[in-house]
Amino acid sequence: MRTDFEDLPAPVLAAVEARTGPILKAEPVSQGFNSEIGAHVSTESGTCFVKGLRADHKRVWTQRREAEVNPFLRGIAPALLWRIEEAGWDLLAFESLEGRHADYSPDSPDLPKAAELLRCLGEIGCPDIELRRAEQRMGRYVNHASDLDHFAGQSLLHTDLNNANVLVDATTAYLVDWAWATRGAAWLDAGYWVVWLIAAGGHEPAEAEQWAAEVPAWRSAPAAGVTAFAQATANLWEEIAGEDWDPWTARMVNGSRRWAEYRKSV
Ligand SMILES: Nc1ncnc2c1ncn2[C@@H]1O[C@H](COP(=O)(O)OP(=O)(O)OP(=O)(O)O)[C@@H](O)[C@H]1O
Ligand SMILES: [Mg+2]
Repeated sequence: MRTDFEDLPAPVLAAVEARTGPILKAEPVSQGFNSEIGAHVSTESGTCFVKGLRADHKRVWTQRREAEVNPFLRGIAPALLWRIEEAGWDLLAFESLEGRHADYSPDSPDLPKAAELLRCLGEIGCPDIELRRAEQRMGRYVNHASDLDHFAGQSLLHTDLNNANVLVDATTAYLVDWAWATRGAAWLDAGYWVVWLIAAGGHEPAEAEQWAAEVPAWRSAPAAGVTAFAQATANLWEEIAGEDWDPWTARMVNGSRRWAEYRKSV
């Protein structure tokens, strides 16, 4: 459930204004449902993007994760401006990007920008901060425990390549929403991208993999690892979808299943 920015407790708003100066306008973002607060906040000195959760929210640890990883993401993600933990809320403010959500459809001019973004991410050394590990996150979803060995690694991964997390301008794509930053095998983010290209972009699996191959790390991914990842991802989305498939999760289940099916034939 979203909370309107203006409805935050007075001490929280006061703490924000102590950083930003008087708030002129707070416009909620329509996309994104993980955060309880998500808004573009304008003041005389400019606009920032603020996201937040209540301090007792079960995913409030993701706020710290985003804050800790942010300094390592220069050039590929908006900079963190401040974090406030006050009166039962945990807020992060980022510099505001002008871009729009990436279009993942075939022939979209955003695809080379997203591939370049993943290439740049691959060049960032994994910071020495607490991160989830890919093989742990996938632990319940693989068909064989030994599949997990393929997912372990020392690379920094984003793992939520939803096109709403990729903001593009005329030349460049940026990656927001690092809540699920993870340590794992270098090629995995290109793998997460494949699922979204199929499910959100309408690509055929072979086409989506051709885009993934624009990311250097993908080209040395072990074929058996990719096949195991496609299957595990399909299992994961089936669990998320549960009994009643809404149209959004149905797209993800069907897309990941199509990829897993395709992998049986390569
Ligand atoms: N720095 C930024 N500048 C401009 N817009 C942003 C910025 N960060 C995020 N947004 C916009 O706000 C939306 C939600 O942000 P974000 O994904 O970080 O929040 P979330 O609540 O974790 O979302 P989700 O539920 O989609 O995971 C993004 O899809 C994007 O449209
Ligand atoms: Mg998001």
